[in-house]
Amino acid sequence: MKNINEFIEAKEKGKKITMISTYEYWSARICEEAGVDCILVGDSLGMVIQGLDTTLPVTLEDMIYHAKAVRRGAPRTFIVVDMPFLTYQVSQEEAIKNAGRLMKETGANAVKVEGGEEIAPLVEKLVSIGIPVMGHLGLTPQSVHALGGYKVQGRTEEQAKKIVADAKILEQAGVFAIVLEAIPEKLAKEITEFVEVPTIGIGAGKYTDGQVLVFHDMMGFFDKTPKFVKKYVNGKELFLSGLKQFISEVENQQFPSEEHTYE
Ligand code: KIV
Repeated sequence: MKNINEFIEAKEKGKKITMISTYEYWSARICEEAGVDCILVGDSLGMVIQGLDTTLPVTLEDMIYHAKAVRRGAPRTFIVVDMPFLTYQVSQEEAIKNAGRLMKETGANAVKVEGGEEIAPLVEKLVSIGIPVMGHLGLTPQSVHALGGYKVQGRTEEQAKKIVADAKILEQAGVFAIVLEAIPEKLAKEITEFVEVPTIGIGAGKYTDGQVLVFHDMMGFFDKTPKFVKKYVNGKELFLSGLKQFISEVENQQFPSEEHTYE
C-alpha cells in the first residue's frame, strides 16, 4: 500500500489486505521484501520485545525508537504506529502533540488508537489536521484490566451491538481502516459488511477485509500463543538448533574454521 486510498480500493476490489505487527529493522526488511501491504509497529512490543504482561507501560519514546528502526528497514511500506496507553486519552492537545511526534520523528504514515465512541472526537481532529488514523475494536489490550483479561469480546448481544455501533462511529469520524481483535467471526462479518472502510482482523475469522498477525507469533518464537495464531515457521526450533550447534562447535574448536578467519 502506498497511501490510505489504496486500503479503500482494496476493499472495493475484494483484495485481502495483509498487515504484520513488528518492531525492528531486520524483520521490517523481511516484511517489505515479502510484500506485506502494511506494517504495524504495535504496542504489543511491550509483551513481545520487553517481556511485560501488558501493553500499558509502553511509552511514546519506546514507540518512536522502534518505529524509526522499522522505517529504516521498510522504506517503501505503509507503516502504522500504535499510540500507547495514556498518550491520547488525557487531552486532545496532548494527543495531537504525541501523534505529531510519532509522524514527524518516525516517518510513519498513520497512527492507530484503541476504542470507539469515546475517541471519535480525537479521530476527527487528527484526521482534520492530516494524520491518518486506524481504529481498533473488540479486544483492546490497553483496556485489559477493565475487560477482565484477554477475552473474546462481543459474545453478548449488548456487547456486539456496541462494537457494531462503534465501528460506524469510527468510520464517520474518518478512520481509514479498523482492526477487529478477538471477536466472533459472525460479528466481524456483520461489521465488515456494515462499514465501507476495510476491517483488518486478528482472531476475527475469515470475513474481514484483511488479516494481521504479530511477526514473532507467526514465526513460532513462542510456545504458548492464542488460538488465532498460525505458526508459519517453527522459529524457536530453528534458532535453538543454530545456537546449540554454535555452542558445540565452539567447545569442540570447529568454529571458526579457515573459511571464517582472516589471514
Ligand atoms: O499491538 C499490536 O501488535 C496490535 C495488533 C495485534 C493488532 O495492536
